[in-house]
Amino acid sequence: MAEKRRNGSGNGNGDASGNGRGHNGNGNGHSSARLAGKVAIITGAGRGIGYATALKFGREGATVVACDINADQAQQAARDVAEAGGEAMGFQIDVRDPNSLATMVDAVVKRYGRIDCLVNNAGIVQDSTLKNMTEEQFDSVIEINLKGVYNCTKAVVDVMLKQSSGVILNASSIVGIYGNFGQTNYAASKFGVIGMVKTWARELGRKGIRANAVCPGFVSTPILGKIPEKVLKALEERVPLGRLAHPEEIANIFAFLASDEASYINGAVIEVSGGLTL
Ligand SMILES: NC(=O)c1ccc[n+]([C@@H]2O[C@H](COP(=O)([O-])OP(=O)(O)OC[C@H]3O[C@@H](n4cnc5c(N)ncnc54)[C@H](O)[C@@H]3O)[C@@H](O)[C@H]2O)c1
Repeated sequence: MAEKRRNGSGNGNGDASGNGRGHNGNGNGHSSARLAGKVAIITGAGRGIGYATALKFGREGATVVACDINADQAQQAARDVAEAGGEAMGFQIDVRDPNSLATMVDAVVKRYGRIDCLVNNAGIVQDSTLKNMTEEQFDSVIEINLKGVYNCTKAVVDVMLKQSSGVILNASSIVGIYGNFGQTNYAASKFGVIGMVKTWARELGRKGIRANAVCPGFVSTPILGKIPEKVLKALEERVPLGRLAHPEEIANIFAFLASDEASYINGAVIEVSGGLTL
């Protein structure tokens, strides 16, 4: 069904609810859930932490706008949220492309009338030691992980300001606090995200908008795909909890921060690493 919609719109975008449910009541039995009535845009929702976050937000009653550069995966995420009883739209976006973001935001506002939460989650790695890093590797990571977060937040901020409410959540990393071997570009991008979060917390707090950063340790997702098994094992051994995180364990933190239960958390940088950095 979503395939037809994708072909129909010609841009990989569309609504996966297909059941005529409105977002306010959600019609999904989640009216008492902690994100009931909230509209949340999640970038990088096609897989990994973003996908887990889309499902979690859907289960908590949010209307989910699942965005990814991979159109099929964005649509699949939206369908999976809908199949679990939630309301969702899937969108192909590129966080580097403000036009794709404006199109998505316009469609969301047209359909749902508001944006309560943005989860800036899309991100990439292009690892290399400083000696071997190319300009292309440096620029591509900064373009997506840092400028992409800026682009997405710029795209929603006027809507949130008009509402006098909103939550901007951002995937940073423990690498953005402590650095990491072979990750000059990634560390710079994730440290930069923390700087923007603290700035937005100051600029937007009085306007009813909260901004926070989440710093995962190592989470079992495809982004770790290039790390050799041996290195992953050694990493696991360094974590006091003795294992990597599941993506759901990061999704749970995003859901809490998006909820009204976190109403006084602003400008926070929350490490979720199983104690790896102790
Ligand atoms: N997995 C970890 O160990 C870990 C640790 C710390 C921080 N993080 C951060 O968490 C976030 C999610 O990571 P993950 O592990 O789920 O990664 P992932 O590679 O599994 O998923 C990233 C998603 O982002 C999408 N994406 C990439 N470029 C995009 C673009 N230009 N526009 C739109 N979407 C794009 C991809 O298609 C993919 O679906 C990232 O920002 C990452 O840096 C991950």
